[in-house]
Amino acid sequence: MVINLSEQHSLISNWVSELRDVEVQNNRMRFRRNLERIAEVIGYEISRKLPWENREVTTPMGMSSGKVMTEQPVLATILRAGLAMHNGLLNYFDKADNAFISAYRKHHPDGSFEIRLEYISCPELDGRIVILSDPMLATGSSLVKTIEFLKAEGDFKELHIVCAIACTVGIEYVLRAQPKATIWCGDIDDEITAKGYIVPGLGDAGDLAYGVKLQN
Ligand code: URA
Repeated sequence: MVINLSEQHSLISNWVSELRDVEVQNNRMRFRRNLERIAEVIGYEISRKLPWENREVTTPMGMSSGKVMTEQPVLATILRAGLAMHNGLLNYFDKADNAFISAYRKHHPDGSFEIRLEYISCPELDGRIVILSDPMLATGSSLVKTIEFLKAEGDFKELHIVCAIACTVGIEYVLRAQPKATIWCGDIDDEITAKGYIVPGLGDAGDLAYGVKLQN
């Protein structure tokens, strides 16, 4: 399933527009904060689908019965571009466990690239609800590799993927590999360049959030 939060006008579509805007992109702190708050709102939307139960709490004035979550998700992200969205999710799911994976594009002289994964730090994932953030779902190959890498640590029961911008081909690729996943995105674009950049997209999310890196 795919949920595009820009289909209806909301603050999310305003924040996605700011992420894309070359003038606003000069403000690195605003870029990170926009990623973070898109993830916060998506986190709230996801929370409406998570298991809950009625629980009584004692207030200074009496008893109250309210709905509370019965399980904590595992928040997973791909270093480094996913950090701001991960932080946004963690602001809301503040008791969640966390998983971090490093993935990067190893570029070849002919312009092609392959995805390399090097590092994983994660809790037990068997039977868990996993929320994986990655701001740009482009070809989908790093997400699919990351999910396979995570699945080696346990067979999670639900997978929510959180992106700022997703590309149509990438969505199809991910859902072919993980048909039960739900993809939540700030917006969807249709084009992708030969180098794997989304068009119109926003450029390189990691560089815009954290600065230009040396090419590997
Ligand atoms: N990663 C990015 O940062 N931008 C894209 O357009 C695609 C992948």
